Amino acid sequence: MKITVNQKQYNLKKNYHNVLDCLRSLNILIEAPCSGLAICGNCAVKIDVPTHLSEEDHIHLTSQQLEDGFRLACLYPLYDGLSINVENTQLHILEKHSDIVVCNPLVTSRLIEPRFKNSRSESYEQLLGLKKMSYPILQQLDNHIVNNRSFYIIESSEIMQVSLDKMKVYGCALDIGTTTVVMSFYNLETGEWLLTDSFKNPQSAYGADVISRISNEDHYDQLTSLIQNSVEKHLDHFESQYGPISHLVVSGNTTMTQLFLGLSIKSLGFYPFNYALCQTLTLKLASIFNNSFGLMTVLPSFSAFVGGDILSGVLGLNISDTSNSSLLIDLGTNGELFLLHNNKYYGTSTAAGPVFEGVSLDCGMQAKPGAVYDIKDELLTIDNHPPIGICGTGALSLLAWLYKNHHIDDTGRLKIGESYDFDQVYLSQGDIRALQTAKSAIRTGIEVLMTEAGITSNDISNVYLAGGFSDNINLEALYDIELLPTEFSHKTQCIGNSSLTGAVSYLFDKNCDQKIANILERTTIVSLSEHPDFQSHFMNYMYMKKPAD
Ligand code: FES
Repeated sequence: MKITVNQKQYNLKKNYHNVLDCLRSLNILIEAPCSGLAICGNCAVKIDVPTHLSEEDHIHLTSQQLEDGFRLACLYPLYDGLSINVENTQLHILEKHSDIVVCNPLVTSRLIEPRFKNSRSESYEQLLGLKKMSYPILQQLDNHIVNNRSFYIIESSEIMQVSLDKMKVYGCALDIGTTTVVMSFYNLETGEWLLTDSFKNPQSAYGADVISRISNEDHYDQLTSLIQNSVEKHLDHFESQYGPISHLVVSGNTTMTQLFLGLSIKSLGFYPFNYALCQTLTLKLASIFNNSFGLMTVLPSFSAFVGGDILSGVLGLNISDTSNSSLLIDLGTNGELFLLHNNKYYGTSTAAGPVFEGVSLDCGMQAKPGAVYDIKDELLTIDNHPPIGICGTGALSLLAWLYKNHHIDDTGRLKIGESYDFDQVYLSQGDIRALQTAKSAIRTGIEVLMTEAGITSNDISNVYLAGGFSDNINLEALYDIELLPTEFSHKTQCIGNSSLTGAVSYLFDKNCDQKIANILERTTIVSLSEHPDFQSHFMNYMYMKKPAD
C-alpha cells in the first residue's frame, strides 16, 4: 500500500490499525495524549481528500476543521493512495542561562609534560602520575612518551582522551520531562553557558503521562529508542558546532530515566512498585551512544513515583544545607513535592496530569508565541501575538478569573453553557474539571506533607515553585483557586526548571554525590493515596473554595 505524508511517499509493507499507528511506525510523531483512545482530540491530521468521518471527529473538531479535511489520526483508516499532512510538532527553544562558578567537576583536562628525572624503572602510570588507562589510551601515550612530546589528557577516574592539542571539556545537563526535554550545554573548565535546547518528549505520541507510558508494555523498546535518538540528535548537533561532550548528567522522573537507560518500567506499574536506581549511576556514554568517549551520570530516584527530577531540584536549590523549613513544588505532569523541616525530609508525588503544561485542554498549547498566559483587562499572550491557545499558566489564571467574576460556582460548574468563550479561545467544562483535579492533587500533596511533618503553612519559610512555565505565572491566581495556601504569599518564588538546575550543579561539583546520598538517606517518602487524609483533602480541594470544616 502506498501513502503520502507531507508530500513524501511511503510503501507500507504492513497493515496498521489507523493513521496514528502508521505514523508512529514511520517515526513521524504527533501529539496523542490519550494514546489513541479517541478521548483527547489532539491527534488531528489533515487528509487531502477525506473519505471517512467519525462521530468522535464531530465531537473534537470544529466544523471549519472538518471542512478543511482534519480528522483524528487514531480513528482514520489506511488505504492505498491516502495523502496526509502533519504539522511539525517539535518544540525548539533557545533560552539564556547563566554562567556557573566552576568548583570540582568530575571530568577535567590537564597538560602532561614527560620528564624522565629518575634513574629507576617506572611504569607510565607512575612516571606521569596518571590514572587507569585502557589499551587504546596506552597506545597513544606510548607514542607521545617515546617521542618525548607534551600532550593533553581529559580524565576522571581514568584517562578518557589524549591529544597533542588543547581540548575543551564540554558538559551537558539533560532534564527528561514527561512532556518536555531540556538540554543545557556548558564549558566545564570556564563555567561558560553555551546553549540550551528544549524539545517535546517524542514519547508523547504514546500517551501524555507516566501511567500511559508504563501501560504501553508492547512499546517499551520503542519508547527507549525515541528518547535516546532525540537526545543523540541534539548531542550531535552541539558536537558538530563545538566539540565532543565529556560529561552528560541526566535527571528525570523514575519512568523517564529508566526508559532512557533502556530498563524495563513494568514493575513501576504494579504493587509494590519496584524501581531500578537508588544511587547515582555513572557509566560510559558509549554504553548508549556510539562513538562517544565521555561519561554519563544518571541521578537516582526516591521511589517509583518520586524521581531524580525532584532530587535534582533539592540539590540545585541547596536547600538541604539550610535550617529553614522549605517546600519545593514541581508543577509537572507528574507533580512532585518535597518538604524540609527540622532536618527531616518528606517527599511525595501526585498525578496532576498534563494540564500544567497546556496539554489535554480543548484550546491547550505549550508556552509558545500566541499562548494565553494570563488575563488582566484583556488576555495576555506570549510575545503579544493574537491568542491561538492557552498554556498551563494561562489556564490557571483563566480559572481564577472565571471564579472571581462569578461565571463558575464553588463546585466549578459553569453558570451558563458548557464552555466560556474568551477572545478566540475558550475553557470548556471538561477543561475546568481537569484543572480542578490537578490543583486539588497538588494542594492535597502539600497538606499531607505538612501533616506528616507536624507543621502548618505558617511554619514554612520558603516555597519554591518549579516547572517549565513558572516565569510568568500569576501567583495570585494560585491563592485564589486554593492551589497554594494564602499563607504562602510573600514567601513563594518561581524558580523555573529546578531539575535542570540540579543536573547543572552536578556537572560542576562531583561532591554532589555525597549530598545526594545524604538527601536519600534522610527522606521519608509518603504515599499520598494510602494516607488517611487523602480522600477528604482531595474532595475538599476539588471545590474552588474549600468548604468550612
Ligand atoms: S484522540 Fe486520538 S490520540 Fe487522543
